[in-house]
This record gives sequence, structure tokens and C-alpha cells, in this order.
Amino acid sequence: MEKFRTALDMVTALEPDIPVFAARPHAAGRAARWFTQNFPGEVAYAYKANSSVFLLGALYGAGITQFDVASVVELEDAATIPGVRLHFMHPVKARHAIRKAYFDYDIKCFALDTEDELQKIVEETEGAKDLELFVRISVPAKNSRIPLEHKFGISGQKAQRLLVKTRQVADELGITFHVGSQTTTPDAYAMAFEEVKKLIVKAGVVVDAIDVGGGFPSRYTDSVPARLSDFIEVIKTSMDKLPVTEHCRLICEPGRALVAEAESLIVKVDLRKGNSLYVNDGGYGALFDSAHLGFVFPVRLIRAGLDPNEPLVPFEMWGPTCDSIDRMKGPFMLPGSVREGDYIEIGNIGAYGRALSTRFNGYGEYKEVILQDEPMYSIYTEDVAPLVRNA
Ligand SMILES: Cc1ncc(COP(=O)(O)O)c(C=O)c1O
Repeated sequence: MEKFRTALDMVTALEPDIPVFAARPHAAGRAARWFTQNFPGEVAYAYKANSSVFLLGALYGAGITQFDVASVVELEDAATIPGVRLHFMHPVKARHAIRKAYFDYDIKCFALDTEDELQKIVEETEGAKDLELFVRISVPAKNSRIPLEHKFGISGQKAQRLLVKTRQVADELGITFHVGSQTTTPDAYAMAFEEVKKLIVKAGVVVDAIDVGGGFPSRYTDSVPARLSDFIEVIKTSMDKLPVTEHCRLICEPGRALVAEAESLIVKVDLRKGNSLYVNDGGYGALFDSAHLGFVFPVRLIRAGLDPNEPLVPFEMWGPTCDSIDRMKGPFMLPGSVREGDYIEIGNIGAYGRALSTRFNGYGEYKEVILQDEPMYSIYTEDVAPLVRNA
């Protein structure tokens, strides 16, 4: 893997014709250290966010040895990392996946949100007595960019009943939730803990573990989150108020917050039409969140001899496929002189960027490099206050 100090050094040396993933493993390592030092419990990484070996290596090197996996393919990949503990936290799993996870990979930890799934887990593990089962409850989404409360999660009396039933078969009973991805204020976690508390009291069960899921934010041009340490404070205070013993485990499974700032995408401008830039990756590539969810990632023009005082003007970008929804509306603020052949660094796309890219229209091929400079935004360099913009 070729290493460069900056994106400019890289484009000068390689003049790449295909888009480039530029990983900054040191940024993933810093994020992982921040979580392992500040989160008052165990930290698992949500593998789906980005499975680049360079970022996984950095997370592992910084002490992350637990991974949340969502499929057989992910668990088979993650299981190759020495000494890992895997959590299969998808609440709906194929029977063969449960069986394989338990018998071939020694996974004991499963999430569920229905009695039918509980039954499947019991049957496919042949009535195992060493299961760690997490009931996924439904919690309100507040200030989250990607709310997740409609697909999974159980509430009310059904949740109480499921907790009681799960308690009867689980060696360890847990409760888990997800407040929604890119949640920008910590009160979402306080509200979720309120639901957890009510359910524990009403169901009258002993709970051995709480998994607060992911949802921790990163920084984007159009999304400025509260400080991560404020999230930790709210989680600590809420955990202290739960009717659980001091032995109750606390777990989190961030994806976005651990890797978002650890990867950039460098695209080439194939054509400029007014303030529209036609670039060589897009909504069917690593810019899915920008095209389909409106994320405005930070951008900068990578060109030698650029006048740093050139005024920035708003641009939209179009991806390389023939599809008219392959459009990133932005606005992306770039120097007015952007032209065909220029390179643009699109920062903080480490979470759900490469993970969502497809081969549509024959695109989806990337070059990969490592950069040693700082990400365009970092929420870790000063624990977000004040936010550092390294552009
Ligand atoms: C069960 C589970 N845990 C963790 C995550 C990671 O979430 P985030 O990237 O918002 O931290 C997800 C993402 O969808 C998830 O489904």
C-alpha cells in the first residue's frame, strides 16, 4: 500500500484516473483510543461501517477486539482477526446463519426482537445453555440523520413478555437499542435509557448487560454534533439510574464515529457544466449518503499552486453513471476556477462510503492509498470543542 503525506502528494505522483480511497489509519486508531479510554464499558466496532483492513488493523491495534457483525459473510471475515469476540446483533437472522455462528464460530451473543426469533435461536443452537441474548427494544429517534426505529425493536407489553421469555433460556440477558445513526444530541440516549428502565421494572427481570448500540455522530459540513464527551456523560448518568447490579455490563457498538474521519475519497473532474461538476464517483459509489440522504461532506480542491484566497462558490456534483439520481446536490464549496482534470478530496466518508459502493454501470473500482496528514474534520483532536477544521 502506497503511503503519501497529503492528497496533493498522491495526485502529483499517481495522477489517478479512477477514484481513490485515501485511508488515514492513525485517525481510526485515535478514535478507537478515545472510545476505549472514555466509554465506561466495552467497545465493539460495527463491522458494516467499513471493513478496510487498514482501518480494522488500526482499530484492533488501539484495543478494539469486539465486533458487531450482521451477516455470515461479516462474521467469517471478522473471525479471521485473532482473539476477537463477535456479537451477532442483527435482530433477524437466517436459521443457517445462527447455526453457523454458534457451532462453527463459537458466537454466543445474538440480538432478537420477536418470540419467533427467540425460538429460532433456541432451536438452531440445540437448546444451548450459554447464550447471551439481547432483546432489541424500540426507542424514539431524536436528532438522528438516519432513524432506525421503524424496522427493528419491540416495545410495551410485548417487550415485557419477550424479556421474561428470553430470561428463561439465556445465560446472560441483555437489552439493546439503536438511537439512529448520526445522532447529534445525547438526549436521545437519555430517552432510550428511560425506556429500558421502564421495561426492566415492568418485566421484573434481572438484566446482565445493556448495549447502547451505535448512533454516535461524526462531523460533516452540514452536521455539527454535540461533544462526544457529553454523550458519555449522559450514558454514565443514565446507566447509574437503572435497576441493575454493579455487575451489569455496558457495551457500545459504534460504526460511524470510529471510522468516518479515517477515510477520504479523491475524485477527478471529468467535465464542468456551469456549477455542476461531473466526477468519477457518485451515488452508486462511495457517495451514496450524499446522493440519497443529502449528506454534505467536506471538500477541497487538490491542485498544485492553488491560490488560498480564491473565493469559494457552491457546486453540485454528478456521479459517472447514466442515472439522473446520481446527483450530489451539496452545496459543495470549492474555488470558482475548478476545471476538468482537477482532483477533489471528499472528506470524512469512512463510514458507509466504500461499504455502500456498487458496480453499477461498470464503475466501483478504486485505487487505495494511505495518507499521513489530518482528516478534514476531526471530532477527536480536541474532543470537539472547538471543532477543528483542517481543510
Ligand atoms: C445493530 C447495529 N449496531 C451498530 C450500528 C452502527 O451504527 P452507527 O454507525 O450509527 O454507529 C448499526 C448500524 O446500522 C447497527 O445496525
